[in-house]
Amino acid sequence: MSGGPEATVSRETDHNSSRSTDHVSPNGQGAEPSGPYDGISLEDTPIGAAAQRASQVLHPGSVSLPKPDRRRMLTIANQKGGVGKTTTAVNLASALAVQGLTVLVVDLDPQGNASTALGVPHHSGVPSSYELLIGEVTPKEALQQSPHSEKLFCIPATIDLAGAEIELVSMVARENRLKNALSESFLNELDVDFVLIDCPPSLGLLTVNALVAANEVLIPIQCEYYALEGVGQLLRNIELVKSHLNPALHVSTVLLTMYDGRTKLADQVAEEVRGHFGEAVLKAVIPRSVKVSEAPGYGMTVLDYDPGSRGAMSYLDAGRELAARTASIKAQEN
Ligand SMILES: Nc1ncnc2c1ncn2[C@@H]1O[C@H](COP(=O)(O)OP(=O)(O)OP(=O)(O)O)[C@@H](O)[C@H]1O
Ligand SMILES: [Mg+2]
Repeated sequence: MSGGPEATVSRETDHNSSRSTDHVSPNGQGAEPSGPYDGISLEDTPIGAAAQRASQVLHPGSVSLPKPDRRRMLTIANQKGGVGKTTTAVNLASALAVQGLTVLVVDLDPQGNASTALGVPHHSGVPSSYELLIGEVTPKEALQQSPHSEKLFCIPATIDLAGAEIELVSMVARENRLKNALSESFLNELDVDFVLIDCPPSLGLLTVNALVAANEVLIPIQCEYYALEGVGQLLRNIELVKSHLNPALHVSTVLLTMYDGRTKLADQVAEEVRGHFGEAVLKAVIPRSVKVSEAPGYGMTVLDYDPGSRGAMSYLDAGRELAARTASIKAQEN
């Protein structure tokens, strides 16, 4: 199987499967099994499982993930450009929201791509993460709801954020500004389960602010040449922030992106990354898919743009896995 023995890459059809999924009902819940397929549940067949996942997107609320005991905040970082940070931030957020959790995406990249993909206005002058960092607005004033989901929120980024790296240098508590701005009372009032922070492709003060605000880091890694290039530098920075500013900081999650099952290279990269990061690597792998890259052009996540696509399903899988880890963390603590 692609991406290592345990990896799961969603496919539209699995040609190795000879089992029928005729008993899948239009709502994806499945009719009573009968005849030769007795005992085969929907989830046993790849197409059945895919139909079930697509149904979740089309009928939000039909499947709910358990609400975590404690809110989780993840910084999505990799200073390498174009590895899928923003794509992961918005699609994972959408995948969690469609499965019933409340999610806030904080756009910390002046490019504002996450805001675009969530369909949220972010022209200059809109209250944004920039004003939030310099203390001009409260998080509530900068908050916007995504038009695609009542459970998905965004603090957008405008081009004004481009100057923030320099402006922040002379400010008091310059590394703690995002943490202090995203107050507990604000997050409690929003009753948010997951906060995902989308970082720019650099290790400057914006990324440091994100690493101080969140305890978890999610590193997207593109299944391409030089995949691990620069990751060492990122890990050293994470260690620095951990030792000086945020002792709870750790790399909790690694996600393989833009996986192309036709190439040997993709498998080699996946294997190398799993060897390096072990359990932190999600089993779900995001395939390279045209739908994923088209969606932001319509101000949508791939889950809204094409809910049945492989890209949408793989992000749903990743979301479920991420949320299940919440449950396992909870179990370990009890
Ligand atoms: N699974 C995928 N399949 C196809 N295209 C993808 C996939 N994931 C991301 N892309 C495309 O790759 C490009 C880079 O993705 P993205 O913007 O998410 O990366 P990034 O790490 O946030 O980039 P930056 O460092 O510039 O912020 C985008 O054009 C995006 O649409
Ligand atoms: Mg980005």
